[in-house]
Amino acid sequence: MFPPLAGRKPSGATLAAFRRALLQWFAAKRRALPWRKSRDPYHIWVAEIMLQQTRIAAVIPYYEQFLERFPTIAELARSDEAEVLGLWSGLGYYQRARNLQRAAREIVELHGGKFPRDAEVARTLPGIGVYTLAAVLSIAYGKPLAALDGNIARVLARLGAVRSPLRDPQTRRKLQEEAQRLLASGNPGDWNQAFMELGETVCTPRAPRCEECPMARWCRARGMELQNEIPTKRILREGIRVTLAAAVLCDPRGETLLLRSPGRHDAVLFSRLRQFPAIEIIGDMRDGVREEAKPRATTQIRNYLRDELGLPKLLKKSFRQLPALRHAVTFRDVVLLPVLVRVARLPRHSEGEAVPLQDVPHMPISSATRKIARAALTALAGSSNQARN
Ligand code: ADE
Repeated sequence: MFPPLAGRKPSGATLAAFRRALLQWFAAKRRALPWRKSRDPYHIWVAEIMLQQTRIAAVIPYYEQFLERFPTIAELARSDEAEVLGLWSGLGYYQRARNLQRAAREIVELHGGKFPRDAEVARTLPGIGVYTLAAVLSIAYGKPLAALDGNIARVLARLGAVRSPLRDPQTRRKLQEEAQRLLASGNPGDWNQAFMELGETVCTPRAPRCEECPMARWCRARGMELQNEIPTKRILREGIRVTLAAAVLCDPRGETLLLRSPGRHDAVLFSRLRQFPAIEIIGDMRDGVREEAKPRATTQIRNYLRDELGLPKLLKKSFRQLPALRHAVTFRDVVLLPVLVRVARLPRHSEGEAVPLQDVPHMPISSATRKIARAALTALAGSSNQARN
């Protein structure tokens, strides 16, 4: 059995057989993904950025639309951020899009408009970490750099029966070294993608399909029947519960107020994009949304609108609490309480912008803001139907 991480050096013949098995499997099974039609470093780069923390099926339509609108690095560099964020809207992790555009501008200004071939130069670009660097340079330029993403780390951990948690920095370092040692340097782009593909389709996090695996005979975890135990499960941090009340103001023309530089929840939930005025509801609501949370949300929103946005005192009947929405983000279980607030006039605010409420779902906003906007539009449609009937 070939133990990739056991410290012993495999013979050249074993290593060659190992590499051949994976590359042959990949040649037969590779999926026809859109970014695999291209060797253009820009296309590969956009795909690799979009694929971070995002499923392939979700990425494909965004990838295609993005490249249709921005076919070159120069076009991306020239565009304005709002448009880039608009095309990214719904993919999440918006910092990726901001960095992509900042990097495009640097590439135009400093590197002649072409993604740099030199790893040290490319590494200085915004948003290019060790993984993206290795993936783009190996796939686009054939550079012998091993990429280590979550899928590859899991495959390697099973091959070597590594039992320490994959997030542990020392383990990560060892896996990176191991990935580099195994790399088929004659074809590093295919090699990296073959490993990714194996992790995505066969050596999956749950219920790995070992009977279909081209590496099974070298896999220590399989030999020890530990494939379901490795990687070691991370002890989950208990999700932090947060309850946010969001005010959807609505004036007689159907306009609402979005804030450009929102409060302290922005980075987590609203990605520093425009959002509805929102506050965290403090109080005994840790078990989710109890009924008593709702009047509390309305009262707190009312005070907030008065104190922070200078909205004149409103009658209770101007407020309508909409059903709670759940929104899970990393380590956070967020309960959103949208409150529809009818106002005669929207307040003026230095960071505020009046926009038609029905346009909000189509703007570059976070998915939490989109959920809130849709809930408000549904409620308004319901009440106008009732009024008509
Ligand atoms: N995940 C990240 N990059 C990928 C790629 N190039 N092919 C398949 N899956 C991936």
